[in-house]
Amino acid sequence: MEELLSQQQIDSFETDGYLVLEGYFESQHSQRVKDDMDRMTANGVRPNDRLDILMNYPELGFLTSEPGIIARVTQLMRGTRFTHHHMHASSQADGEKGEPWHHDYEQLPQTNRSHLMVHIFMYFDGLNGEIGDLLLLPGSQRQVMDRRALYDFGYADLPGSITIDSLAPGSIIILHSAILHARRPKPGGGDYRRYFANTSYCQDGILWCGVDEIATLNQVALERGYDRQSRYSWLFDTSQFYNGTKVWQDLKEKNIGSLALKL
Ligand SMILES: [Fe+2]
Repeated sequence: MEELLSQQQIDSFETDGYLVLEGYFESQHSQRVKDDMDRMTANGVRPNDRLDILMNYPELGFLTSEPGIIARVTQLMRGTRFTHHHMHASSQADGEKGEPWHHDYEQLPQTNRSHLMVHIFMYFDGLNGEIGDLLLLPGSQRQVMDRRALYDFGYADLPGSITIDSLAPGSIIILHSAILHARRPKPGGGDYRRYFANTSYCQDGILWCGVDEIATLNQVALERGYDRQSRYSWLFDTSQFYNGTKVWQDLKEKNIGSLALKL
């Protein structure tokens, strides 16, 4: 296993729930990704049009199996395998609305943190205090709560929270998906657009809550070669997921009173 993260970085991730890698992408790579995102914008593709992104924007599609990121996530997963959950890409401009406090750990219902899920936030232009700042509550990944339990706090500072508003271009942040985070809207930026993408990964060993179209997404990823000559075909393994929409419906009917007694 390639050891690209130091033990100190791994320890820091486990304590705080995030890890900043400044200037991770070299500028030519970032530019290729940004060109793909400009084409997305010109074609009217929305940030959550996952199928369209994977089918038609290969620079974005290949981010799902970026070797240096996969090696680092492998270390954080303690050498176990994991699957790609979803990707998202958006070029944000002045006036971009914020995203109140929430987390993105995929579990129905939220009951434990036995297996690791991570998000990789990619800031191809870095952060500079305009458009939006990233807020994090370090350590909150250890608290089990609904994804929007603190949503009503909006973009307010919370006790112990930090604001990340300065990052070099091409920086990435690896987040434990259960860490509370928010994007606080900020004025400024003019005509400038900020290019942001994220991927996410789920540790093997349990079934995870997947999006409805995950089988199609994985098939397209494999057809487009995002597994890099089968080196990473395990990232696109649909058998690691259950259908979240269906399970959510079933759960709503059963989730009355003492759920533990119904196991
Ligand atoms: Fe989020």
